[in-house]
Amino acid sequence: MVLNAAAPSRYWTDIAGEFDLPVDEITGSLPANLVGTLYRNGSGRWNIGSTMVKSVFDADGMVSAFVLDGRGVRFRNKFVRTKHYLRSTEAGQPLDRGFSSQRPGGPLANALRLPANTANTNVMVNADRLLALWEGGRPHELGLDTLETYGLSSLGGVLKGPVGAYSAHYTHDPIADTKVNFGFDPYIPRLDLRWALRDARGAERRRRLRELLAEAVPRVRLRVYETDARGVTRYVRSVPLPGLAIVHDMALTQRYAIFVVSPMRINPWALTGYASFWDSMQFEKDLPSYFVLAPRNGGPVRIVETDAFFHWHFTNAYEDGGDVVVELPRFAPHTWSGVKNYTAHVRSDIAQIGGAEPADAVVLTRFRITAAGRVTREPLADFGCEFPQIDQRRSTVRHDFSYVAVQEPDRFGGQGIARVDHRTGAAQMYCQEDNVLVEPTFVARPGGTAEDDGWVLTVGYDEIRHRSRLMVFDAAHIDEGPTAEAWLPFHIPMSYHGTFTTRVAR
Ligand SMILES: [Fe+2]
Repeated sequence: MVLNAAAPSRYWTDIAGEFDLPVDEITGSLPANLVGTLYRNGSGRWNIGSTMVKSVFDADGMVSAFVLDGRGVRFRNKFVRTKHYLRSTEAGQPLDRGFSSQRPGGPLANALRLPANTANTNVMVNADRLLALWEGGRPHELGLDTLETYGLSSLGGVLKGPVGAYSAHYTHDPIADTKVNFGFDPYIPRLDLRWALRDARGAERRRRLRELLAEAVPRVRLRVYETDARGVTRYVRSVPLPGLAIVHDMALTQRYAIFVVSPMRINPWALTGYASFWDSMQFEKDLPSYFVLAPRNGGPVRIVETDAFFHWHFTNAYEDGGDVVVELPRFAPHTWSGVKNYTAHVRSDIAQIGGAEPADAVVLTRFRITAAGRVTREPLADFGCEFPQIDQRRSTVRHDFSYVAVQEPDRFGGQGIARVDHRTGAAQMYCQEDNVLVEPTFVARPGGTAEDDGWVLTVGYDEIRHRSRLMVFDAAHIDEGPTAEAWLPFHIPMSYHGTFTTRVAR
């Protein structure tokens, strides 16, 4: 059985609890020098009382840790104790407005409310803390060893604005040894009513008031932050966006912080409370997509138009002569309803992941933006994929290998992982029937310098056994299958993003 829309999967059932246990069942052999901790964040709970969670956006965050100490593997997981998690657990039902779900009580109970922070998207190691990240709000601080929730963080008072958001997708700058991130910052421009009234009467005054009112619409800017190796975060700059766009990820070069603004827009109508944010999304199909290139040193933002497309994640970006190269899985659906299908399919009641219509595959793509603002693009693979990763030592510079989650279950019999060699275009793939493998994480071999000298870690779900396992691949030979698997006695529902640190959690 292939996991698809016609076959509801047990993948989306709740995890059996919170655990801290040694993993006894290991097949193959674990590399002795693969030492550290793989942290993952995702949705562990798909039912609150008798209410099913509607989408990945609103499922409570659960952080998992696979601890590799050179002798074996230990597994630990804990739900992030967000306000949403605590309140809904106590009530036995969701009480807060989500991104795709409404709070009980009708429009009035939802008006002017932003979605509840579920802390479910990614994790970041920040000095002696682990941050559970969610793009619409502040991060939650957790213990690196215990995964215990300490509470919301403003990163030393640096996160400001009504939302104080710190996105789920930070990007490494290995040259400066920093992590750059951004936060969604909605605002309404300040209106100069005195200008409208001063020295104007009658029709002129009315015209100015109309003009002013037209300006009084919500806008979005991004606040860019940089965190050094000691965990100290500073505000870098603000980036105004053309339109109320969803910006999920960023890319980085040595000069630029880079964002893509697609024609998928938030309708301010959602603020009235009549429909959820998700149901209020609109696709402005006549608009282009924009690359937004914000100089990290604070100079003027460059905005470059290209054909409309949608994406969630970046692979990497770098500068090549005067050009800026940006790589990402590009989704250019034949119909804009495909965008909704693509994202809405990642749900508890529809098992397929990332599967829109077959013609709407998500293609790994390289864009090249010239100094004059010309954009060209080329496909880098001939199969659908998402969750691209690289050797993080190559972030902001040219990379030769991308590691991705393969997302064409009907074609490959399961959702696996692949490595694409950009020197030749060749792909190595590992897909297994009845299995779903999540985002691959590259881990460099200690002392190694070659880009693919290391391992790729992922978590695989086996539908038949209804169990999950940590999978270890030789990064240079993905197609040979895992060299070791550490099987849990239970399953982990889909997790989204993770990070590896050489620190061994205690
Ligand atoms: Fe993401």
